[in-house]
Amino acid sequence: MRLDPAAQSARLVWDKDLFIGIQMVDQDHQQIVVLINQVLDAMETGRTSEKFLSSLLDELIQFAKEHFRREEDLMDQYGYPELQSHREVHRFLENKIMNHKKAFLAGEAELGIAADLMKDWIVLHIQGVDRKYSRFLQARGVA
Ligand SMILES: [Fe+2]
Ligand SMILES: [Fe+2]
Repeated sequence: MRLDPAAQSARLVWDKDLFIGIQMVDQDHQQIVVLINQVLDAMETGRTSEKFLSSLLDELIQFAKEHFRREEDLMDQYGYPELQSHREVHRFLENKIMNHKKAFLAGEAELGIAADLMKDWIVLHIQGVDRKYSRFLQARGVA
C-alpha cells in the first residue's frame, strides 16, 4: 500500500501490494478502497453532514459484510483449513467498524482516528490473512 502524496491527507491508492490474484476478491478489495477514500473525503470537506457520513459508513459496512461472505463461501468451497479463524477475524472487523460508527455518532470519537483504524485493519487484513488463503486457493487453480 502507498499513500497518495498529492492528497492533503492520507488516501489509499490501489497498487500491487494489495493485489492477491483472485479476480473476484481483487475487485471487491478495490471497491473497499474506493469506499474508505469516500469516507476520508467526506470527513475532510468539513461541510459533511452527520447523516451523509453515516450513510457512507453504512455503505462501507454493508459492502464489507457482503465481501466477507463471498470470501468465506470461496474458502468453504475449497476446504480451506483456516476458514474458522478467518471467519472470526471477519466478525471482529465488522464489529470494530460498527463500533467506530456508533462512537462517532455518539460524539465519543474523532472520526479521523476511527477512519485510520478502519483503514489499517482492512488493509492489514488484505495483506495478511487474505493473501494467505489466496495462495491456498491459487494452488488449486482459482484465479
Ligand atoms: Fe478480503
Ligand atoms: Fe478476509
